[in-house]
Amino acid sequence: MDKTEDVLILAIESSCDETAAAVIKNGREVLSNVISSQIALHTLYGGVVPEIASRKHIEKINQVIEEALQEAGVTLEEITAIAVTYGPGLVGALLVGVSEAKAISFATNKPLIGVHHIEGHICANYIENKELEPPFACLVVSGGHTHLVVVKDYGEYEILGKTRDDAAGEAFDKVARAIGLGYPGGPKIDKLSKEGNPDAISFPRAKVADAVYDFSFSGLKSAVLNYLNSCEMKGIEVNRADVAASFQKAVIDVLLEHAMEAVKEYGFTKFAIAGGVASNSGLREAFEKACEKKKIKFYHPSPIFCTDNAAMIGVAGYYEYLKGSRSGYDLNAVPNLRLGER
Ligand code: KG4
Ligand code: ZN
Repeated sequence: MDKTEDVLILAIESSCDETAAAVIKNGREVLSNVISSQIALHTLYGGVVPEIASRKHIEKINQVIEEALQEAGVTLEEITAIAVTYGPGLVGALLVGVSEAKAISFATNKPLIGVHHIEGHICANYIENKELEPPFACLVVSGGHTHLVVVKDYGEYEILGKTRDDAAGEAFDKVARAIGLGYPGGPKIDKLSKEGNPDAISFPRAKVADAVYDFSFSGLKSAVLNYLNSCEMKGIEVNRADVAASFQKAVIDVLLEHAMEAVKEYGFTKFAIAGGVASNSGLREAFEKACEKKKIKFYHPSPIFCTDNAAMIGVAGYYEYLKGSRSGYDLNAVPNLRLGER
């Protein structure tokens, strides 16, 4: 293909605590993927502080975009379109990326494409699985979301179920804080779990009575906190590795049960996972095994494409671009944007 025919998407992501920019060629080729993480900054406070996140995004965004273009060996003039996350996320954080993308679009006269953050997470699966095409099912598990989604076609989604309270990653972060592991808790619980017994403590696996595919993790989180309190009151020393392993197993069991129930009912032949929690080693292993048993194909992005990044936004932006989706200069940050809405 002649270089002038290539579709080059400059993607920007700033919905939470990563300032990120990437250049994606023809939908699935990552030319660059630059991520400036604020984790160290927020660790001081035990979680993301929205005001600090917005300020840091402003400081970093130009530099991150410049690096992404440089690494890709592409100039702004060569870019076909600019894709940006416009929701869901922290409003102040989102606004930094959206304003930047609008400014670049206006200055270069290139199309602007607003991208849904969860659509981005799902599309991360296309990067390393070139053969993957819709339809398939995808479990999106991140710090803010737990969605079981049918990917009917590019940009066409049906939500089968979602969390009624805490997201899976949120539960990981809160439990990690309670056992003194710090923020972000997911990777730390993942690591400590390997030294613990997942059957040591029996934590609840919640079901939502009127919606088989919906999730609830706040009861599990409370059960862990109650367990820790009761140990303290009785003067029993807590085995943190056992707590981590038993908690992680309870989360995985619930996610897997819901997913396999959907596979049985809808007959999916392809199942993907996405989002920060999708990099959890126990979760990957459990899904890998279950999909193998059911003889269906299992897909997951590499950890770097699971947690927030702009490459996934570029992939989603490419398919939106092909569909003709364009945003105007009135594009705004939408903190509670729902999947499938534009
Ligand atoms: O997708 P993401 O970067 O941001 C959101 O869109 O929310 O996900 C971040 C979440 C955090 O809650 C973090 O603790 C969790 O993903 N996480 C993990 C692991 N790595 C990140 N949870 C469990 N195991 C991991 N290895
Ligand atoms: Zn995310």
